[in-house]
Amino acid sequence: MTAEYKVHGAVAVITLNNPPVNGLGLATRRAVVEGVKQAQGDAAVQAIIITGAGAAFSGGADIKEFGKESAMQEPNLHSVIAAVEQSTKPVVAAIHTVCMGGGLELALGCHYRIVAPGTSIALPEVKLGLLPGAGGTQRLPRALGVEAALNMIVSGETVKSEMLAMAPGQKLFDKLSASAESLAAEALALAQDVGERHAASSEPLPLVRNLPCKHPLGDAYFGFARNMVGGMSKNYPAPLKCVDAVEAATKRKIADGLLFERELFVNLMWTPESRALRHLFMAERAASKIADVPSDTPVRNVQKVGVIGAGTMGGGISMNFLNAGIPVTILETKQEALDRGVATIRKNYEAQVNKGKLKEDKYAQRMALLTTTLAYDDLKDCDLIIEAVFEELGVKEAVFTQLDAVAKPGAILASNTSTLDVDKIAGFTKRPQDVVGMHFFSPANVMKLLEVVRGKATAKDVLATVMKLAKKIKKTAVVSGVCDGFIGNRMIEQYSRQAGFLLDEGATPQQVDKAVEKFGFAMGPFRMGDLAGNDIGWAIRKRRATERADMKYSRTADKLCELGRFGQKTGAGWYDYQAGKRDAIPSALVEKLIEDHRKELGITPRKISDEEIVQRLVYALVNEGAHILEDGIAGKSGDIDMVYLTGYGFPIYRGGPMHYANEIGLGNVARAMERFAQNPLDDGKFWQPAPLLARLAAEGKSFS
Ligand code: NAI
Repeated sequence: MTAEYKVHGAVAVITLNNPPVNGLGLATRRAVVEGVKQAQGDAAVQAIIITGAGAAFSGGADIKEFGKESAMQEPNLHSVIAAVEQSTKPVVAAIHTVCMGGGLELALGCHYRIVAPGTSIALPEVKLGLLPGAGGTQRLPRALGVEAALNMIVSGETVKSEMLAMAPGQKLFDKLSASAESLAAEALALAQDVGERHAASSEPLPLVRNLPCKHPLGDAYFGFARNMVGGMSKNYPAPLKCVDAVEAATKRKIADGLLFERELFVNLMWTPESRALRHLFMAERAASKIADVPSDTPVRNVQKVGVIGAGTMGGGISMNFLNAGIPVTILETKQEALDRGVATIRKNYEAQVNKGKLKEDKYAQRMALLTTTLAYDDLKDCDLIIEAVFEELGVKEAVFTQLDAVAKPGAILASNTSTLDVDKIAGFTKRPQDVVGMHFFSPANVMKLLEVVRGKATAKDVLATVMKLAKKIKKTAVVSGVCDGFIGNRMIEQYSRQAGFLLDEGATPQQVDKAVEKFGFAMGPFRMGDLAGNDIGWAIRKRRATERADMKYSRTADKLCELGRFGQKTGAGWYDYQAGKRDAIPSALVEKLIEDHRKELGITPRKISDEEIVQRLVYALVNEGAHILEDGIAGKSGDIDMVYLTGYGFPIYRGGPMHYANEIGLGNVARAMERFAQNPLDDGKFWQPAPLLARLAAEGKSFS
């Protein structure tokens, strides 16, 4: 059942019931139209209430219907709203908890609206690169005023009902109920009252669509709004279209405005930006699901966390749990290291307090949850222990052997290793089923991404627990199998390799960075290297020299490191830096180093187009991503996209490397790779399209 119909005296109550948020899927839409019809035909009914069961009035469109035919099937939301507006008996929306998107548009079609305090109200469509397509841009400005409505529509942000109900002159809500608990009774009283009143008079029912809609400044206001919105939404077309739609509400008759809104909506549906944002929305939800771990897998209780190592990562990791109200004990080998780690945590919190982002009392509460120790015995009551010590297998072995000895049965033992074999680490214990990788990204208290590394033996309930916990600490968790570099770093290695070849062939670091940044990356590979430390890649390449001697590299980066130019931390890297500043200044010394290296190799530099730079870097990610999918390291292509969108600064509006490749067409991507394979200065073997990519391209399919 997706909506219930009940009659209380002279009032029919239609209760949307489509968990979890009463999404307006086809069956629910049908049920509303049926309910309204039934009430019309019942002479004893004088008024109708529409409300929602459970924890929402309605969250809007049913995401289970996304991209499916049923989303378009009649009655669509327009027809539902029309049926409500045309009801000859007054329809009262009784709104509580969540009223968003199509849910708010439905409410705006009702004749009266009563809302509970604390209700979250929003038209969030812009976050999917769209605009409200069922009258939201035409009715909300009429009900709430042009400016307040435009702010909500352009930002997609949630506003609490009591704030809106207090706005001067607003006609969005006829009444704010005294409490959430009293909403049902107050709605019934309101419905009885208006039902009786309208039954006894021929006065037309009030409709938002009939309200006037003007901004006192007219065109000047919309000019200003366009400037503001345009400046803030450079790569996204939807926000400016929202302005167009709201302006139409002030200039056109409602029927005309609704048609215009529809046209804009349909056009936005086809933009790559909206496709990317919708992909991200779905991929984010899908990432938390693991094919062979059912969603009802029981999870372990995590009430206390231990962190080993109070360095760069250990401190940031601890903050995540403290922020979520979970007590943390940090273990180190020396008191000084503990003191340094705790001081850094304090410094981070204090910076937030100074910026007004954290209240003093919250800061104190968080610090009160933190304890430190030098003794493993103090970790024996921890439910989860995360290791973040030096990246050396021997050190990890010492740590995990001791953990195995003291941790309580069922405690989850996690490693934050970024390159080591999680199965080997699990093998240091007698409980490999309890061992998992939790690969945080630096700074760990800020970065959204968490790669959850599933070992051969990792138990399903351990995975389920960690995925659930990730949500609690506000991370986007993506499961990765065990391999060198997991998903993200394994791919970035290929990207960095291409960046090196491009220098050898004729590009400069600044040209490569600019091209990639123009494509939309937050930072190009060389500025990124300088920020993260060029020595990290150097260490990996040294290891590779013995492990995978066949892997071809440009030597330029090694030469840079041989000069001690590790990046910002040494005041010089691919770029020069002025003391205390982060601005990257092109370096004559680096340019000469690159030129000398070319001469050594006998390469005559050529002019390389920005297009080639972007294609080689991005398609390198795509090809390695395809191998990762084929090897079963990532479960779905959307998971790879989530890693790149949340951990590596891939432009959101391009939807991640795999989605981007789908958009370009895998056939086109494979053909470009075959072309790159012909370049003798590049790695021809790498550019053979991964078998999965080649097959999908040949079949005209995409990764998803
Ligand atoms: P770090 O050098 O800043 O901190 C390591 C800390 O571990 C030091 O405070 C050290 O005193 C402590 N330590 C060393 N041996 C210990 C032992 N046996 N028992 C207790 N404490 C011990 O290193 P960082 O950067 O925090 O890295 C830690 C781990 O996180 C490594 O496995 C690294 O690969 C991984 N990682 C690092 C990232 C980064 O960007 N720094 C990103 C993701 C993972």
